[in-house]
Formats: sequence, structure tokens, C-alpha cells
Amino acid sequence: MSLQGRIEDKSAKIGVIGLGYVGLPLAVEFASKGFSVVGIDSDAKKTASINRGVNYIDDVEDSKLAKAVSEKRLSATTSYADIADLDVIYICVPTPFTKNKEPDVSYIEAAAQGIAAGLRKDQLIILKSTTFPDTTEGILQPILDKTGLTVGKDYYLAFSPERIDPGNQIFTTATTPVVVGGVTKKCTELACLVNQQIINQVVPVSSPKVAEMEKLLENIFRSVNIALVNEMARLCDRMGGIDIWEVVEAAATKPYGFMPFFPGPGIGGHCILIDPYYLSWKAREYDFHTQFIELAAETNENMPFYVLGLIRRALSHVGVPFQKAKIMILGVAFKKDVDDTRESPALKIMEFLLQRGVQVDNICYNDPHVSEIRVSGVSFNSVPLTAESLAAADVVVIATNHSIYDADFIVEHANAIVDTRNLTKNIKGSDKISKLGAGTRF
Ligand SMILES: NC(=O)c1ccc[n+]([C@@H]2O[C@H](COP(=O)([O-])OP(=O)(O)OC[C@H]3O[C@@H](n4cnc5c(N)ncnc54)[C@H](O)[C@@H]3O)[C@@H](O)[C@H]2O)c1
Repeated sequence: MSLQGRIEDKSAKIGVIGLGYVGLPLAVEFASKGFSVVGIDSDAKKTASINRGVNYIDDVEDSKLAKAVSEKRLSATTSYADIADLDVIYICVPTPFTKNKEPDVSYIEAAAQGIAAGLRKDQLIILKSTTFPDTTEGILQPILDKTGLTVGKDYYLAFSPERIDPGNQIFTTATTPVVVGGVTKKCTELACLVNQQIINQVVPVSSPKVAEMEKLLENIFRSVNIALVNEMARLCDRMGGIDIWEVVEAAATKPYGFMPFFPGPGIGGHCILIDPYYLSWKAREYDFHTQFIELAAETNENMPFYVLGLIRRALSHVGVPFQKAKIMILGVAFKKDVDDTRESPALKIMEFLLQRGVQVDNICYNDPHVSEIRVSGVSFNSVPLTAESLAAADVVVIATNHSIYDADFIVEHANAIVDTRNLTKNIKGSDKISKLGAGTRF
């Protein structure tokens, strides 16, 4: 039977390389639609966990994963040995940047090498990792072409970026449209067809490069707009008497032409912070400097330093020298209600505190979603959020506004608060609170 026929009657075997925030939900979704799915991950702890039927990603329903494993529709391995058994292979590996903020596509290359070793006729490869334009055709395809097989004829290749928004209950894998750009028309058609098995709306575009650039536009759009509002937040602090959060909410009542973005302690996660650098790096190959995009990245990256200034001011307000201060951070995940700490500004802030001489024992954090973290080589465990732990800190920094946080309780027991997320929105007139973007009280 043709690959198209196997996808249509769900006998196609699906492979997912990289079983993290993107890959595991995808694998479970295909398995729950009746496909046989094999996940490949270099992390043996993850593959063992899946094979035991134990979920480790918040967005995946525990019972859905357990059912898929017990019904033998989902299994996981660290090995690429059986790549030839798979009909469709999704690549969902990380695309981080280096210390100097250059793209690191080595994970994509490693996955491509693993596939190439077993590539056979009639296989479809779909790259989902966010990356710069021309990765699919310029980096992935040459590795696969070395097998002697021809793209569009023997095997098929497409880029289809991921749009998952961890923690979002409304837009799930099924209800979030995805874009697909294949190397040839047939590649696009097959990649659309397989995506349609689990996603309601699939949008074909003319090439992988368009799909790669489209994904970067989505994320850079957010970076630029967050930077704009972060700049205005700092201006509000300087001017005093204007609360940026109230300003944004008022502007958002305009029914067209405005979309609210909110300020914060900086950008985190594996996308919005990193992706602008992927594009600006690629642009330099064409003697093009993406100044606007880099200015936004710089503005956002300055926010944790800015919060450090707010902490210093709060400490001087309560009369405690910076290096002797006891500081509690609330929320170390990069955004509310998730457990992901990658590039989290809270970790940056903790790193700055350590670098600037605050004692390790005087820094603590609470995060209901993150039980332990490492910062500058030091391990921290989440402490309970109690009246005592709040009162023991000279300043409490609200770095992430998890839904579970009770602003009244925090304000009642803390000595001083730096609120970077407007958690204390409904508490007026407290001289304990310094809120980012609301005119510094201290
Ligand atoms: N997390 C998100 O919200 C999100 C949203 C959209 C797009 N993306 C993009 O999707 C990609 C994956 O992101 P993620 O958040 O799922 O990352 P992740 O770190 O959660 O998962 C990646 C997985 O790949 C595995 N891996 C690394 N190299 C491998 C290899 N050679 N072979 C097999 N497995 C390997 C890792 O062990 C890890 O489990 C990135 O490009 C990211 O930018 C992420």
C-alpha cells in the first residue's frame, strides 16, 4: 500500500524523535487516534518512564499516555536501530543557542544522522523544531540525500512548526492550526495529510523556508510587543503615578487593532527568547542587521537586571544591606502554571543575587510546579509558602504569577514585595509593595 493509503487507514507507523514538551504530546495524540507510535529520545529516563506508562509532561493527560502504552500503541526507545520500520518521522529535538547566542542545530543534525542510517523509500520526515530559514533544505536534506535517495521521489521531507502553548487549556494540539511547507508538492500533501489525522486545520505554504520564517515571525512578534510594553513599564516607573498594567488593560478595550501584551521580569522558555537570535544570526549571512529585532531582545534581556534594581530599592526601604538580605523568590517557572524553567528570568535574578554577594543560605524560592533547581552550580529546593517563610524574608520577589498564589496572604505576611507580574493588582495602598511598571514606591 502507498504511504498515503497507510496514513489514511492509520496503519502508518509514526516515529517521534525527541519526547519533550513538543514530542510527547504529539506521540500521545497519534497513539490515541489509533496509530502505532514509537518515540525515540536520547534520555533513557524519559523512555523508561514512557514504557512504564508514567507521564512527565503537564500538558499530557496521565491516563491517555498510560492507556496508549498498555494497549501497545506507544513505546519508546533510545535507539535509532529500527528507523526503517517507521513510515512517518517527526523531529522534535531542542534548538537552543550557544553561550554567545548563536544557533545550535547540532540536535537536528544528530537526529538526521540517526534517520539517514535507516532511511528507506516511501518515508516522510517532518521537522518541527523551531529554527532559521533553510534548515530543512540546507542542513537536514543534504544529510538525508547522502543515502542516495531522492527527496520528493523516494522519500518526503517537510517543515511543520510546533505551536503548542504549555498550560493553555483552550488551544490544544487538535484545536491549534499548523502550517506545513514541503520540499516538493507531494511532500507538502503527505505532511498535510498526516497532520490532519490529529489536527483540525492544516495550512499548506509554498516551501519549508516560508514555514520556517513564519514560525519566527510568530515568536518575534511576541518578543517585539513584550519589549515595547517593558519599555513603557520602565517609563511608568520613572514618571510615577501611572500603572502600566491598568494602561494595557484600558488599551485592550479597543475592539480592533490592539492586542494586549504585559511587562514582566524578562522572557523565558525555549522559544521567544531564543528565536530572535536564530533569525538575526541567519540575516548576517546576507549582510542584513535585524536591528529592530535585536533591540527588542536587548530590551527584554535587560528586565532581570532592572528587577535587581527594584530589589535593591526595596531592601534599602526596609533598611537591610543588600549582601545581608534574605530574599524569597515566588515562581521560578518562566510563566504561570507550568513547570518549565528553561531560560527563566527568575533563575537569572537568583544568579545575579549570588554573583553580587547575597549568601546562598539567604536565598530561597517557592514554586508549586518546580521542586528543585540549580543556579550557578548551587541546588535549591522549593520551600513551603507559609506565613513564617514569607515573614523570614526581607523581600519577597513575585517572579511568576502562578494561579495558586494568594496575593492577600503574601502581602499580609511579607515585609516587602517586588511584584513583577501584577499579582497584587487588587491590593491598593499597601506600602509593602513595589510593583514593576507602576511607579516605584521605594
Ligand atoms: N516547548 C514549547 O512550548 C515549544 C513550542 C513550540 C516550538 N518548540 C520547539 O520545539 C523544539 C523542541 O522543544 P521542546 O520544548 O519539546 O524541547 P525538550 O527539551 O522538552 O524536548 C526535546 C527532547 O529531545 C531529546 N533529544 C535531544 N537530542 C536528541 C537526539 N539526537 N535524539 C533523540 N532525542 C533527542 C531530549 O532528550 C528531549 O527529551 C524546539 O525547537 C523548540 O523551540 C517548543
